[in-house]
Amino acid sequence: MLLHLRQVLTPDEVEQARAVLQDAAWGDGRVTAGVQSAQMKNNEQLPQDSAAARLLQQLVLDGLNRHAVFFSAALPKRIFPPLFNRYGGAANAFGNHVDNAVRYVPGTQGERVRTDISCTLFLSEPDTYDGGELCVEDTFGTQSVKLPAGDLVLYPGTSVHRVEPVTRGHRLASFFWVESMVRSDEQRRLLFDMDTHLMRLRTSAGETDAAVIGLTGTYHNLLRLWADV
Ligand code: NI
Repeated sequence: MLLHLRQVLTPDEVEQARAVLQDAAWGDGRVTAGVQSAQMKNNEQLPQDSAAARLLQQLVLDGLNRHAVFFSAALPKRIFPPLFNRYGGAANAFGNHVDNAVRYVPGTQGERVRTDISCTLFLSEPDTYDGGELCVEDTFGTQSVKLPAGDLVLYPGTSVHRVEPVTRGHRLASFFWVESMVRSDEQRRLLFDMDTHLMRLRTSAGETDAAVIGLTGTYHNLLRLWADV
């Protein structure tokens, strides 16, 4: 499932993030790439242990925490501390690759995150740069994604994907991975669809409607069956 989530960060928070990133000391993006993807990767990244990175990580995590659709779609168990990157100038693209299946969380005793879901949160307005589309290959063909600042795209960690060259301006983004309570993309998708329709039904039929109560039970019983917590 590829899903567009609107306004994970407010316009004020996006401004704040951009102000921090503008003065930040950027490093080579290859530090977090695997051996194969390092050959395709040419961008800049904020060092993970910098004060700027820690401040912005909290900003993004707070945005995710208050976003009900993110929770419903991702059913997060663990979230890798968000990373930040910049594409533009001579460091402007990331060719086709698949993200590593398991990530070690820096600064922990070997804590791991299985990358069931990949996320990109756009921080630059689309009209301020050319190129920079995130292209995700899936069974319906290649999806090209370029979103308003503050919006996020969530897609399966299993996908081959790339970032097209940025030919004007700079593209700032945050990216990270989610280990989901529900490992299967198919099962997670079914739960998300069911939850979405249930929310509509609650509005039209009311919280105390017998069918609403019954279907809410079915949702939770499926989650109980499939969730690993
Ligand atoms: Ni990637």
